[in-house]
Amino acid sequence: MHYFEYRNGELYCEEVPVKKILKEVGTPVYIYSAKTIKRHFKVFRESFSKIDHLICYSVKANSNIAIISLLKQLGSGADIVSAGELKRALKAGIDPKKIVFSGVGKTPEEIELALNADILMFNVESLEELETLGEVARRLGKKAPFALRVNPDVDPQTHPYISTGLKKSKFGIPEEFVIEAYKKTKKNSYLHPIGIDAHIGSQITSISPFVDALSRLKKIWEELISLGFELKYLDIGGGLGIVYENEEPPLPQEYADAIIKEGRDLEATIILEPGRVIVGNAGILVTKVLYTKENVLKKFVIVDAGMNDLIRPAFYQAYHKIIPVEEKNLEYEVVDVVGPICESSDFFAKERKLPKVKKGDFLAIMSAGAYGFVMSSNYNSRPRPPEVLVDGEDYYVIRKRETIEDLLAFETIPDKYL
Ligand code: LLP
Repeated sequence: MHYFEYRNGELYCEEVPVKKILKEVGTPVYIYSAKTIKRHFKVFRESFSKIDHLICYSVKANSNIAIISLLKQLGSGADIVSAGELKRALKAGIDPKKIVFSGVGKTPEEIELALNADILMFNVESLEELETLGEVARRLGKKAPFALRVNPDVDPQTHPYISTGLKKSKFGIPEEFVIEAYKKTKKNSYLHPIGIDAHIGSQITSISPFVDALSRLKKIWEELISLGFELKYLDIGGGLGIVYENEEPPLPQEYADAIIKEGRDLEATIILEPGRVIVGNAGILVTKVLYTKENVLKKFVIVDAGMNDLIRPAFYQAYHKIIPVEEKNLEYEVVDVVGPICESSDFFAKERKLPKVKKGDFLAIMSAGAYGFVMSSNYNSRPRPPEVLVDGEDYYVIRKRETIEDLLAFETIPDKYL
């Protein structure tokens, strides 16, 4: 469900014609719908209303501070993975007591910043990290609240690059080491175990991997309680999938019901770290057709956005629906939609049946709100696109377009090469 729709053959985001935004800010441009984000968050939150829970929006999915701030207004916390994301969450006004810090490679400096900010909990991913957390906490004279991230060895049946809960994956701590690790921290007054955590992957479209992971966590939880640990938070991560093409992910309510059922006899606050399900279908990337050309085998539509702007098709062979901003041509043809970058993987669609377009037309690449702008780069020295947030009849440029001067600003030529 989202608020991008045609009115009289023209694509609108909420009450604003997309073309109006293009006139002001040009292309390529990311456009987000605030109403969609709010709706997704509220549906997710209401699905869990029966139980004690805390939603920590996974900032990595879309980390624009305006988006985080909007979610803060709805009561969201934040799941962060770096000092940068911590700063963003704090700048957006997220209550530190609603921030959880995940990630396999937190540096001592990042740990220090988060300890000083008094965040809710560190999701610790290795025994050595636990040691470092203890050392930094001792140095600062602080007690570090933590959960261990368990690797529950369940297959989330998603793209291999985004499945994280398998034995062979770098994430989390193998189940068999977890209890011992908690026990060890009993002697350390700077480490305060308050929960347990798992995150098994992303774009998961069935319920069973979540239930399997939770049942694993539950066993460990119960054992830890029987050992006298006073845990409060059970964090089951994010990962709920969305519709890009014709996937059939569980509805938030179905997902919540399964979790509530499996976790009902635990006296825990359930932490959820949704990312994609909140913002994925709330954003589009709009691009202009620069040229069309054909060879004996194919027809190409060359657009002004590239894999540097949206890398998901190149990186995961991800499908993103593409629609014209003006619905004027009912004649279809099969094309490859490609960007200007010097790589064959620079495509948005291959052999796709699309309404016929010509030079100067605009296309909207759908479902680009999550892992879109945040994964963009300056490859081929291309300034990154602006981000625009629509809310009803209003819209705001929440990140301006980079300039080429911005790109050069960090570089210097040593005198001897002048
Ligand atoms: N929590 C942790 C610890 C995570 O690592 C992630 C995502 C999430 C929560 C949020 O997962 P979500 O609800 O968004 O599925 N770039 C990839 C996705 C990478 C996901 C990384 N971790 C893509 O474009 O599909």
